[in-house]
Amino acid sequence: MLSQKTIEVVKSTVPVLKEHGVEITTTFYNNMFAKHPEIKNMFDMGKQTSGQQPKALAMMVLTAAQNIDNLESLLPAVKKVGAVHVAAKVKPEHYPIIGENLLGAIKQVLGDGATDEVLKAWEEAFGVIANIFIDVEKDIYAQNK
Ligand code: HEM
Repeated sequence: MLSQKTIEVVKSTVPVLKEHGVEITTTFYNNMFAKHPEIKNMFDMGKQTSGQQPKALAMMVLTAAQNIDNLESLLPAVKKVGAVHVAAKVKPEHYPIIGENLLGAIKQVLGDGATDEVLKAWEEAFGVIANIFIDVEKDIYAQNK
């Protein structure tokens, strides 16, 4: 589980990151699709020319981080997104790619504020959030069998 310190560090940076929402989501999505074209194909670019889906993804991670000590409250939302993910064939191995690029975007947006402590805390928090999605999606995949 996350330490109280990690929770505090993450929560303290969420408002700043949300303030720079457009910058962070644009950075996240441009970098990720440039480095991982195979992931780009999973997103419905024709339907979502504005890249709204990956942006929603980044914003939801920020919201989850803000509620990192009360993640059960997000379960209904996670279940809905989980169904979309399963339909898009999202797998556990995709999560580190999202994590890496989100962390990169956080680093870029926070600049000097992105101390080792902040980045480490975010890495841990993303891991916890990702595991909740992975667990929910595992159940949905099993039910679909
Ligand atoms: C904790 C991490 C993640 C969060 C918070 C998240 C969040 C979201 C949200 C909010 C949506 C929109 C759902 C809707 O349409 O109602 C979405 C859709 C989607 N996500 Fe995720 N996601 C995460 C991880 C991933 C991963 C690892 C992948 C794999 C590449 C992925 C791929 C997708 C795809 C393909 C869609 C559908 C987009 C489309 O139809 O164009 N997501 N996600």
